[in-house]
Amino acid sequence: MPNRDTVQEIKEKLSVLDVVQPYVKMMRSGKYWKGHSPFNKEKTPSFFVSPDRGTYYCFSSGQGGDMFTFIEKMEGVDFRGALKILADKAGVSIQAYDGGIDHSFTERLRDAHARAGQFFVRTFTKETPAWKYALSRGLSEETISAWGIGYAPDQWRALLEELTTAGFSQKELLQSGLVKEADGKPGTFYDRFRNRLVFPIRDSAGRTVGFIGRALSESEPAKYLNSPETELFKKSEVLFGIDKAKDSIRTRGYVLLVEGQMDVVHCHQAGFTNAIAISGTALSSAHITLMKRYADNVVFMLDSDRAGLAATARAAKLALSSGMHVKAVALPEGKDPADILSQDTHDFPKHLSEAQSIVEFFLSTILRNEQNRHKQILATETIVIPLLSAIESPLERDHFIGVVANGLGISLDAVRKSLSNRATVAKGMDGVRTSQMEEKVFEGAPLSPVLARAEALCATVLNYPDSALSKRIKDEYLRIMNEPLGDTVSHHALFEVGIALGEQPSPDACDDLIRSFERSVLEEQYEDALAQLRIAQAQGDLDAQKKAEVICSQLLKRIATCT
Ligand code: CTP
Ligand code: MN
Repeated sequence: MPNRDTVQEIKEKLSVLDVVQPYVKMMRSGKYWKGHSPFNKEKTPSFFVSPDRGTYYCFSSGQGGDMFTFIEKMEGVDFRGALKILADKAGVSIQAYDGGIDHSFTERLRDAHARAGQFFVRTFTKETPAWKYALSRGLSEETISAWGIGYAPDQWRALLEELTTAGFSQKELLQSGLVKEADGKPGTFYDRFRNRLVFPIRDSAGRTVGFIGRALSESEPAKYLNSPETELFKKSEVLFGIDKAKDSIRTRGYVLLVEGQMDVVHCHQAGFTNAIAISGTALSSAHITLMKRYADNVVFMLDSDRAGLAATARAAKLALSSGMHVKAVALPEGKDPADILSQDTHDFPKHLSEAQSIVEFFLSTILRNEQNRHKQILATETIVIPLLSAIESPLERDHFIGVVANGLGISLDAVRKSLSNRATVAKGMDGVRTSQMEEKVFEGAPLSPVLARAEALCATVLNYPDSALSKRIKDEYLRIMNEPLGDTVSHHALFEVGIALGEQPSPDACDDLIRSFERSVLEEQYEDALAQLRIAQAQGDLDAQKKAEVICSQLLKRIATCT
């Protein structure tokens, strides 16, 4: 891998504007430049470049990055490919790979993963039990090799010895997650993956960042074993198969989201090459941002048991609120894509073609599962109305309001009212309980009001670092939260704030935002206090009840002062 200096040197020689302009006609707009998004067809320019920061952000597709990610996307290359293109353009020569000396720690971890992947592939011979297992699961030799599927031998320290010989230190091996220290036996180290079929988990540029190992028999306690979170591997940011699926997602125009590794690999083997999976975690906004690089449409093909449905609803809500169009498919009870495809690939397209818009999907699921009419309506309120409210486009939302009214045999007006109740609920105090319930149903939804507002404040401070406005924000934040403002913020927020506030915002430009931030913090505290109160009431604990009542009424008073 190239070292940091090469990247730095390129960034010094080229401006992000030089890189973008051959693709997009840009106009100056204050401290930014803007143009029509190269990722989407659009009438109003929503693609912004900040030469100061060396970054871009596209509002219509919700993606941003630096000159390297821009080239990755425009040219469909990985980081190395982008580096080569930009090094050429900048007239910088790329230093040859130097075998791991002088690399940053992250690059050492990458190297360890690359070597581990090669090791697993090398040990995956036809004589191993894993080979028989892989064939019994319907994987072809071609698939095994294309996906770099390997075998972690049934030994305690095979990989450890391999990587130690290659010059990796104990510390590096531990931090890579490939090696573990024995519980209660400090100083004893062994391989995390043993006697398992191993799938490399790769980022969108095809670099291995972690592994997931499948047990070879159903009697093993853990069917799947993941790499732990490391500097390279962040579960909530990785989509399994994205490196192989991205081109196909772009050309087919949609993501096929399935449950697990076997499903992804089987889909690809049968020609459904736009399949990817989140591995063993909830869909996150980082996952969605990554998907949206390639398409705005997603079809969920997830478990249709109760837990699976709840997860699908949660994920769908998040995807809708990022402007994605979401459909879902129900497979026959207890079957996943791998089960279906390993038997016969002919049925699969039929299932896929039965994908319904997510609103219709849940509506029909509810109508099918609940016989009682009142329960149908309640379930619609909890599950379907929040989906409607997450739909970004007003036209689309209106269409689906009609679908729900029709499906349930109620008036359009009733659906609209339920929808607008929900919207005011989020603001007003009466609805605290409802919004709390909903949080339970849909954990992991988009940023809460508190977080979204904190992010906007943080983005303001980063945009105007030494201004009176920033000082005011930092002081107020400290007063409200009792801790200093952090500095993690998305590209989106940075650009949005920079554009909204212009060149030199006045010191009071964010007063409304600060007030609404404070209010949402207090509202959260009020929700907690109210929950305490309910618990105390339920337990008949009068003392605790009194205390909670006092806190609630104090909070209500404070909330009243910041509206
Ligand atoms: N998973 C995990 N850890 C587990 C179980 C599951 O990380 N202990 C993740 C894996 O990515 C897995 C996915 O969740 O692929 C779905 O799990 P499940 O439906 O239980 O397994 P299948 O994909 O059907 O696996 P298989 O077909 O190999 O039995
Ligand atoms: Mn399965």
